[in-house]
Amino acid sequence: MSKIITKAVFPVAGLGTRFLPATKGIPKEMLPIVDKPLIQYAVEEAVAAGIDTMIFITGRSKNAITDHFDKAYELEKELEAKNKTEILKLIQDIVPPHVSCIFIRQSEALGLGHAVYCARPVVGDEPFAVILADDLIEDAGRGCMAQMVKLYEQKHASILGVERVDPSETGSYGIVKTGDFLEKSAPIEIIIEKPKPEEAPSNLAVVGRYILTPAIFDKIKKTGRGAGGEIQLTDAIADLLNDETVLAYEFEGTRYDCGSKLGFLIANVELALLNSELKEGFSAYLKALAKKF
Ligand code: UTP
Repeated sequence: MSKIITKAVFPVAGLGTRFLPATKGIPKEMLPIVDKPLIQYAVEEAVAAGIDTMIFITGRSKNAITDHFDKAYELEKELEAKNKTEILKLIQDIVPPHVSCIFIRQSEALGLGHAVYCARPVVGDEPFAVILADDLIEDAGRGCMAQMVKLYEQKHASILGVERVDPSETGSYGIVKTGDFLEKSAPIEIIIEKPKPEEAPSNLAVVGRYILTPAIFDKIKKTGRGAGGEIQLTDAIADLLNDETVLAYEFEGTRYDCGSKLGFLIANVELALLNSELKEGFSAYLKALAKKF
């Protein structure tokens, strides 16, 4: 009998080399989009999907993440003393009371597959979600992971969030070839990590949203180093396909690739324009700026 999804794994132990030196002392998932770090958007998306156990796979510079999700007694006291009740509520509500946070250390950045494997002792024998916080998905509050959990409840199979990318960009993604789409999902036939455009079986790219059955752990354990010398989650999923159905799901919403500088800047601009406090002043500024170029 399949269970519902109660646990989400957040791999945050990557080196974040594309954002050095900003990521020398903090993980890239702590970089802010407008006024919240990327990891908080990801946790909010998991909470909206009914998930109550957040498992962070941290690396060096893990403190910023643990501190962000910990109670900040001193700061709360000071805000209270200064009567800054709205801001106080903002920081008290970062993690709702029914949610627990668990931190696991990935001692070496051996790849995304290895990071996910580090969660095995906590996930156990249950299906679980994986969210890569640097893929920020904005969808007017519906929640990409909530859409995927709903699909899981119908299909009871592993699900990968996918979107079409420019064919020249396949070398930056896991790429899938699928059977026919029924509504928004289709069975995956082939998955390949970072194929060159001329070798890619399609332009359907896997983005940072996964629901995986626990069978993935034995597959990761057997997976050797792949592209970039890392233990790739994609390679383990390719092996899982030998035994189980894995679905591709074309989610609703806009994805921002905040692991790249351009995607990060675009996300900041577009989310600022959606922010009720900022949109008026910021759009006036952008219009004036556009006239100069
Ligand atoms: P990326 O492929 O974006 O790598 O990782 P990165 O190291 O974070 O960034 P760049 O490419 O050097 O700039 C995808 C996700 O997997 C996590 C990252 O934190 C990110 O969320 N990850 C990657 C780990 O947790 N551990 C790893 O060993 C590798």
